[in-house]
Amino acid sequence: MKNVATNVHWHSGDITRTDRAKLLGQLGATLWFTGLSGSGKSTIAVALEKALAQHNKLSYRLDGDNIRLGINNNLGFSAEDRTENIRRVGEISKLLVDAGVIVLSSFISPYSADRDAVRKLHKESDMPFIEIFVDCPLSAAEDRDPKGLYKKARAGEIKQFTGIDAPYEAPSNPELHLHSDSQSLETEVALIMDFLTERGLLTLQHQAVED
Ligand code: ADX
Repeated sequence: MKNVATNVHWHSGDITRTDRAKLLGQLGATLWFTGLSGSGKSTIAVALEKALAQHNKLSYRLDGDNIRLGINNNLGFSAEDRTENIRRVGEISKLLVDAGVIVLSSFISPYSADRDAVRKLHKESDMPFIEIFVDCPLSAAEDRDPKGLYKKARAGEIKQFTGIDAPYEAPSNPELHLHSDSQSLETEVALIMDFLTERGLLTLQHQAVED
């Protein structure tokens, strides 16, 4: 989308991201779940949110269906609209990371270029971006068909459905590669928690902000 907002400047406050991290006792990060519809992205995010809460860490889920019910309800499933969907969610994720939150973003996000743009956005502000590929063969996602959408897509009732008549570009170099057709939910959550621990994202403690 064309950038039409000109002559605007970021207005910084006196409290920094580092201050907020101390107040919250955690470092913000975006965990970006990508994969086919029905691959298990949202299920993993829900379980991870709980595991993080049990470790006193605040996370917040941004989910394709939920976001499309609200802020992105003016977007459909053309390539252009999906790109705009991911661009907006990337910006929302970045704001939440700035606030200190661990963001769990679950979107099909079928285009590598769109995901890479969100990665770049985070990198430019020195914010952690962790791409998690929830890999699942189309046949397994279609067998599950939790919302009955594959059936409708096969019947031609839904057009541009990812995996049926719209593409999915698998990540070439994700930070984590899960296999939701063969790994248990517990294993997937444990793998992510281990990764976050290794990255030092779960170790910070609460501290007051000095004058
Ligand atoms: S994305 O491609 O733009 O990243 P997003 O994750 O927001 O998609 O939304 C995907 C969800 O929208 C699916 O889980 C499904 O419930 C619903 N959906 C409705 N129509 C489609 C479609 N044509 N392709 C994929 N998902 C669809």
